[in-house]
Amino acid sequence: MPELMVNIDHVATIREARGTYFPDPVYAAGIAEMAGASGIIVHLREDRRHIKDRDLKILREVVKTKLNLEMAATDEMVRIATEVLPDMITLVPEKREELTTEGGLDVFSLKKRLKKVVEKVKVKGIKVSMFIDPHEKQVKASKDIGADMIEIHTGTYCDAKTEAEREEEFRKIEKAAKVGKELGLGVNAGHGLHYHNVRRIALIPEIDELSIGHSIIARAVFVGLDRAIRDMIELIKT
Ligand code: PXP
Repeated sequence: MPELMVNIDHVATIREARGTYFPDPVYAAGIAEMAGASGIIVHLREDRRHIKDRDLKILREVVKTKLNLEMAATDEMVRIATEVLPDMITLVPEKREELTTEGGLDVFSLKKRLKKVVEKVKVKGIKVSMFIDPHEKQVKASKDIGADMIEIHTGTYCDAKTEAEREEEFRKIEKAAKVGKELGLGVNAGHGLHYHNVRRIALIPEIDELSIGHSIIARAVFVGLDRAIRDMIELIKT
């Protein structure tokens, strides 16, 4: 059964809606760890629309489970990661105008450039994951450039409009997870997962970790963060 990594970006989104200092994502990290999360994820975006440099620095001191920094493969982010030293990073594509990360990173086409980023980060003892669409060539390319892990993008599966489409996407995710494990990669998955679609993905035996944010923070508005996290852990662990 996979571990739950909680993405707390949207605690900062609520804070930024008013440009104030609350709610503080640092508090969210503490509550998430006490509720049983195996790690904390934040995405420091180029435009700093939610998580700020200050959050990342304090989170590095506070988080005692595992801190996963989602980031674009830019010089600025590589500098920050190698200074702050999260336990792992996940390389994601990033477009300024997008609402959230849209699709996986095209590791296959960007092999040469991404390999250099992976080397610069790994030399500091940080593990590297690639957020990719569930395609065999992307899994293999991730292995080729020295990544430790992949995170399979589940967004298309979650957004599928028909059962046939959902089934096809599920098969792709299953296959990518198998290929990843066979190549010796850690296999994570995430994006768009919520309380009603997570179980089937959680049952894929090769998946080590699930990365879940929006649905947990959304439920927390009504039931509290502790309960929202415990509910999700119960779903993915039983
Ligand atoms: N994985 C990656 C790479 C992401 O960019 C995000 C969104 O920040 C997530 C997982 C979590 O997605 P969601 O907020 O839909 O659970």
